[in-house]
Amino acid sequence: MLILGIETSCDETSAAVVRGPFDQAPFDWAQGEQDKPGDALRLRSGHAGVELLSSVVASQDDLHAQFGGIVPEVASRRHIEMIVPVIREAMQRAQLQWSDLSGIAVTSGPGLIGSLVVGCSTAKALAMARELPLVGVQHLEAHIYSAAIGQALPLPAVALIASGGHSHLVLLRDHGSYQVLGRTLDDAPGEAFDKGARLLGLPYPGGPQLAALADTYQGHVEPLPRARLAGSLNFSFSGVKTALRRLLQEQQPLDEQGRARAAAAYQESIALSLAERATQAAEEAGFLPLIVVGGVARNRRLRELVEQRAQRIGLRAVFPDPQFCTDNGAMVAAAGAHKLALSGPDLVDLECTPNQPLESWHRK
Ligand code: KG4
Ligand code: ZN
Repeated sequence: MLILGIETSCDETSAAVVRGPFDQAPFDWAQGEQDKPGDALRLRSGHAGVELLSSVVASQDDLHAQFGGIVPEVASRRHIEMIVPVIREAMQRAQLQWSDLSGIAVTSGPGLIGSLVVGCSTAKALAMARELPLVGVQHLEAHIYSAAIGQALPLPAVALIASGGHSHLVLLRDHGSYQVLGRTLDDAPGEAFDKGARLLGLPYPGGPQLAALADTYQGHVEPLPRARLAGSLNFSFSGVKTALRRLLQEQQPLDEQGRARAAAAYQESIALSLAERATQAAEEAGFLPLIVVGGVARNRRLRELVEQRAQRIGLRAVFPDPQFCTDNGAMVAAAGAHKLALSGPDLVDLECTPNQPLESWHRK
């Protein structure tokens, strides 16, 4: 089962080809048999999740850096320029013909509408022209399935999705079965990293720059005061941002060492909030494996804190390869390979929606 995945929800134009984990679809959706449950799935022998055949990511970071943030109109125009070359490159690197493909997966939301439309329209046109089944993938579920690339997704599990636009704790009972346990009440953690970077005068994209500056600090790191929302698994990052602003005002002028210390304290607070809540959620769900995904899952300190806490209480922590944490087509293809096999295709009237919620498609 070979799936092309397309991602254009924000500012990365990306396409990838994967081999799905199943020998064959459990029912023949091509024949319209869409009502049979997917019990009879056979995993490929020796399978280790989804096998990556190619992955191409065209980042727009340089383009948006001059504006200090993403300009939606500029993003969609660049997607239009890049989408065909990026898909062509992904097919060439996988050494495949169109007739080899079993289906196409595309991010259908949430995201910037002008950006989503480019990926969705392209995917529909290809699906119609090549008579291939098409499946829409929600962006958060795509992030979750980044942990299924090159390794089997452990199920049941708890997933922490920490990205620029989202902060969700999700209980995964099975493929396509999602229950949101907690979410951010204000900023997403990536957004908090980016805003903190701006306060520190770091260039766009701020999150990785702040993390790099923080990691240069060698001394003891005291986290800034962080929100602890009693009796819930929700997050809040606006307080820590205010604390950073205050610290920077109080300690003017800051030398390089002072800036690095402030960055490290800020990173520590965000990483601690995420690690505490996520391990708590996995423990409360019955010591389930904890999957950590999304752009902020690239953060070295977050990985370290999650590992430490997980080890202490006996949890298994699972991280994708860092290159698949930020937005990419491979995770869309990985989610699509599962969704297509287990739930069947969408029709070509698939809609893309800027605020699409995470919805279960599990059939049982
Ligand atoms: O998942 P993603 O590519 O896009 C969304 O779905 O939002 O995440 C991008 C976010 C940005 O806010 C970026 O600053 C953050 O992930 N990010 C990081 C790191 N690398 C990317 N934040 C902290 N540390 C990093 N190393
Ligand atoms: Zn994302």
